[in-house]
Amino acid sequence: MQAQLASIIADAEAAAASVTNRPEFEAFKARLVGPNGSLTAAMKAMGAVPKEDKPAMGKLLNQTKVSVEAVLADTLRRVEDAELLAKLGPAIDVTLPVASDEEGIRHPLTQTRERIVGVFRKLGFTVADGPEIESEWTCFDALGTPPDHPARDMQDTLYMPKSFTAKDSPRRSDEELCLRTHTSSVQIRTMLAAVAAQAKTGSLPPVRIVAPGRCFRRDTVDATHSANFHQVEGLWVGKGVTLRDLKSVLDAFVKETFGSKAQIRFRPSYFPFTEPSFEMDIKVPDMGRLSDRWLEIMGCGLVDPKVFDNVGIDSREYSGLAFGMGVERIAMLQHGIDDIRHFYANDLRFLRQFA
Ligand code: PHE
Repeated sequence: MQAQLASIIADAEAAAASVTNRPEFEAFKARLVGPNGSLTAAMKAMGAVPKEDKPAMGKLLNQTKVSVEAVLADTLRRVEDAELLAKLGPAIDVTLPVASDEEGIRHPLTQTRERIVGVFRKLGFTVADGPEIESEWTCFDALGTPPDHPARDMQDTLYMPKSFTAKDSPRRSDEELCLRTHTSSVQIRTMLAAVAAQAKTGSLPPVRIVAPGRCFRRDTVDATHSANFHQVEGLWVGKGVTLRDLKSVLDAFVKETFGSKAQIRFRPSYFPFTEPSFEMDIKVPDMGRLSDRWLEIMGCGLVDPKVFDNVGIDSREYSGLAFGMGVERIAMLQHGIDDIRHFYANDLRFLRQFA
């Protein structure tokens, strides 16, 4: 019996070396511990061992078992390692020089967006987000743009096929979906979320957000229009927010972005969701061919009380300011770019200038 056990280990160790894959391993394992395996046979033979030899033999059998299990475990690990290496393919020398050492750069529009958002973060704004596919209510109705308004014409807005319905529309599930024409829809979503929080806690949480995002219009592409463009929206709602806050926030933004000598000017304008509404212009002394000219850069105003009514904010208690700017427009002014199409042409000669 002793000799039998010793040979089980010796045979297992010798045979293990030739096991190279999983089927071979399974066969190898069965020869040892399967129903007809050599170790199984030895265990069965214990019954025939004389009583006085049993303790010593039992101990030896146990040691054999431990050794066999160790051989099995080692062999399995080796097979698994081999399988993994086969999956990974040939070894790669990570120290070899690469064919090109050029680094990628962030797209100029990404850089401009990050710079804009960074300035407003410093001014105490947080970043909000909303969907690009938007319900008509959120994109238009809630913002004071009624269904017969020209902005909602099929000529200007891209609508989703009728089979799409607004599952998460804050109002109706049967209304049409469109691709948002501006990020002002995020104003509505942000205010609704604040009102929902107010219902739980009793007070309206501070609303001071910027919302960068992609917008879509049915525009014919030319040097200044793209059917797909980007905006950064701003919204600040609180008690006693005034025109002075609007001017100081935007003046700080412009000075951070275009230099301390940049000036701003407000021109009366109209948006359905702000009252009063303005177009803001900037004038910068050192901006190449655009120096010292008034240039329109964004729409803004105070939140129209009827927008507050639409989302359930008490307009006697709260006031707000809002603004919205085009990221492409800001980037074009900053870099003296004269055609919006450069941003989307993926011409590396253009993009590399923003490294
Ligand atoms: N949503 C407006 C636009 O796309 C911009 C705007 C935003 C105006 C916020 C006023 C306030 O033209």
